[in-house]
Amino acid sequence: GGGADFIVVANRLPVDLERLPDGTERWKHSPGGLVSALEPFLRSHSGAWVGWPGVPDVNVDKFDEDGVWLHPVTLSAEEVRDYYEGFSNATLWPLYHDVVATPVFDRSWWDAYVRVNRRFAEASAQIAAPEAVVWVQDYQLQLVPAMLRELRPDLRIGFFLHIPFPPTELFMQLPWRAEIIRGLLGADLVGFHRPGGAQNYLWLARRLIGLEPSRGAVGVRTRPGVVQVGDRSVRVGAFPISIDASGLDTIARSKETMQRARQVRADLGNPRKIILGVDRLDYTKGIDLRLYALHELLTEGRVDPSEVAMVQLATPSRERVEHYQRMRSEIEQMVSRINGEFARVGRPVVHYLHQSVDRKELAAFFSAADVMLVTPVRDGMNLVCKEYVACRHDLGGALVLSEFAGAAAELTSAFLVNPHDLDGVKNAMHAALTIDPAEGRRRMRALRRQVLTHDVDRWARSFLDALRPSTQEALI
Ligand code: G6P
Repeated sequence: GGGADFIVVANRLPVDLERLPDGTERWKHSPGGLVSALEPFLRSHSGAWVGWPGVPDVNVDKFDEDGVWLHPVTLSAEEVRDYYEGFSNATLWPLYHDVVATPVFDRSWWDAYVRVNRRFAEASAQIAAPEAVVWVQDYQLQLVPAMLRELRPDLRIGFFLHIPFPPTELFMQLPWRAEIIRGLLGADLVGFHRPGGAQNYLWLARRLIGLEPSRGAVGVRTRPGVVQVGDRSVRVGAFPISIDASGLDTIARSKETMQRARQVRADLGNPRKIILGVDRLDYTKGIDLRLYALHELLTEGRVDPSEVAMVQLATPSRERVEHYQRMRSEIEQMVSRINGEFARVGRPVVHYLHQSVDRKELAAFFSAADVMLVTPVRDGMNLVCKEYVACRHDLGGALVLSEFAGAAAELTSAFLVNPHDLDGVKNAMHAALTIDPAEGRRRMRALRRQVLTHDVDRWARSFLDALRPSTQEALI
């Protein structure tokens, strides 16, 4: 046919190829917030998705999945190591999350990043219909907008960053800082979760590119919300992402989920209070901090081990990257330590699952949890807290949420904490465990009003509206 009119380009496809030990292969849902936000949107709007199938060296043809055309991009084992594990997840990920881990700057990783970004740009250029809308996603593909514009100047190109955009003085550490800023300038619209990220980007565009037109590149000027590149305007703005709230609300209300939630409580031994954490196993998520807080509360006798059960679901993630391995052993040691000191036979205090859990099962855990702990030291948005809220049609449950998650700007009725302030986290956990039910309902009602009216469809529509050539109004 004439190509696709609407294309999402992301590092991962919405499904991941899994190779089982017996040699068979099957597709499963990909991990992470990006896929859980974009997949329901794309399924209700026909389009194509360009991405990597999640394992090296697979050559698969495009295929149709629930009305979406998936176009796999092949990565070699070396490219997975250098572009994905290396530059994306050992350089950019820690740098953009306030250097909570030390970023590694490796020149051969950068070369692989450039090469793989070019491959994604070429794959997208090949399948795009004339004047198609191409929506590039996230930190793994920041060079794609400019590369794609070179290949296909007719396209309308949007870019959205799903993680925080860092303070300018941290970004300035990156040896390839100007190349990244220039890569993004190939888009017609560059979107961030928070206005601060957009401001930082504008400052960097002015500082890094505005002053060096002599290097063969076009000089730029900026005004609020816009970078002017020659006669082309690149709009820059904030678009807080969200979830399929009504879909999750429906799942949570189903008999099946409610029954499963009761079963979970019974399996845990019917504790008075269930505490829950749900995260990819990542050092930005503050899983260790919440375990320290629980340990101290138990040690001080402020929490009775016979009355609580904590469940920590930790989805395996980036397991070959060293920082992730270190974090994993720290967390597992802490779980053992708490259970060693406070469990009885048949009654652990912390139930730790290093497994991925499907959406329905997750909804049951959210429905069963009296206290939800979301304590990242830095998080672009965090969708888990919004999912928890969407599941609480009963107005039960209490949310403890880090100030350093993008979601804190919207979910102001949560117990907001500074995760580095251990006493503050302990007090918030204690308050959430002992909350007066009427106060809990009041808070949950306010949280639900925000989440149910600001869903992922609204997010996608506001981004795509702003991407239309006719749109003029200021974004920040
Ligand atoms: C975050 C990123 C996504 C990424 C996801 C899962 O949400 O913003 O781009 O896909 O984590 O991480 P992974 O490395 O497994 O794709």
